[in-house]
Amino acid sequence: MPRAEGRWAGGPLVAVVGATGMVGAELLACLEARRFPVSRLLAFSSGKMRKTIRFRGRTLPAPGVDRRALADCDLVFFVSADEVSARLAPALAAKGVWVIDDSSAFRLDPNVPLVIPEVNAHALSQKRRLIAGPNCTMTGLAVAGRLLHERFRCVAARIASYQAVSGAGRAALEEFFSQTRRLSPRLKLRLGRAPSFAGAPFSALPAPIAGNVIPQVGGFDASGYSSEENKVAAELKKIWGAPKLAASVTAVRVPVSRGHSLAAWLSFSRPVSVAQARSILEKTPGLVFSGNGRYPTPQTAAGKGPVYAGRLRPGTGPRELCLWIVSDNLLKGAALNSVQIAEELLRRGWLKTFSRAA
Ligand SMILES: NC(=O)c1ccc[n+]([C@@H]2O[C@H](COP(=O)([O-])OP(=O)(O)OC[C@H]3O[C@@H](n4cnc5c(N)ncnc54)[C@H](OP(=O)(O)O)[C@@H]3O)[C@@H](O)[C@H]2O)c1
Repeated sequence: MPRAEGRWAGGPLVAVVGATGMVGAELLACLEARRFPVSRLLAFSSGKMRKTIRFRGRTLPAPGVDRRALADCDLVFFVSADEVSARLAPALAAKGVWVIDDSSAFRLDPNVPLVIPEVNAHALSQKRRLIAGPNCTMTGLAVAGRLLHERFRCVAARIASYQAVSGAGRAALEEFFSQTRRLSPRLKLRLGRAPSFAGAPFSALPAPIAGNVIPQVGGFDASGYSSEENKVAAELKKIWGAPKLAASVTAVRVPVSRGHSLAAWLSFSRPVSVAQARSILEKTPGLVFSGNGRYPTPQTAAGKGPVYAGRLRPGTGPRELCLWIVSDNLLKGAALNSVQIAEELLRRGWLKTFSRAA
């Protein structure tokens, strides 16, 4: 049991499982920056090494998971791994603990709401205490295209993703930095000979990522689609409530540290002009739209909450549009979205501002 250093007056008792990871660190920062009420914070890690986290100016221990301590919490964020969520989350929710899970363990479970507050807060229910946060690649499109879909009904989405290395967790990002550091001094630009990072050691991703792009995110199924491609397609249908939407995705890892980008070709059931689409995108909640050929890059979105879009243009016919979308995979794609869900629970009075255990 962690020492009781993380206590403050008022607010729910909150735990973060995976607090020492990439998303965990962002989640703690979001709770702090958004002044989410917390009377006590419990932080958990794999417990393989002695670790601590910082929260509200204090250093707190982050030991391995303590099931009994979790059961006393009002709200538990899972930002660790699928198998950890699968093993622990349902029993906690059954005991009345609100659980917000960023893993993919329950996203497609018909009994679990998959929620982006700007898109489908209506899916939240007081009776369903286990709530899933969506795949970080899909989030940008779900937010950016939501009003266009409502107005013109999107019937097909073709998507190419350009995914940051932090989307694969801390180990992948460390590998990317070490490949870059190790190989940069050797690069010399000689006339007619383009330098290459070839030969870097790798284990966290299927190929070296420094100076490369990898058209594989997750394992492949029998038809050749990767698990990430299947997740993006299936979760988009669930979150838009559009089971008949045709979706095809190519997911690519790129040597960017944070910020996922998408090129999307969206086909609608009715003709839609660029001018109509622009005026809808300018009003879409959670979206910052750049018109007149301007566009965001991963650096535009890194460390920021909104989804960004630009390069709106006509597609192959009057019913198709092309759009470029970027969002921070660690924030809107994970930590921030989870905190926004918790804020929505507070707003509705479902998550009490005092602890059950007080
Ligand atoms: N990265 C993203 O962009 C992103 C976006 C959306 C969703 N997600 C999801 O968010 C979760 C965390 O991703 P991440 O990128 O933050 O990964 P990460 O940087 O690798 O961090 C993983 C965290 O989980 C902890 N952990 C590992 N095994 C555990 C166990 N058996 N029990 C308890 N804690 C355990 C780790 O603790 P140690 O420090 O002790 O290893 C660490 O705190 C994953 O489910 C991922 O699918 C990630």
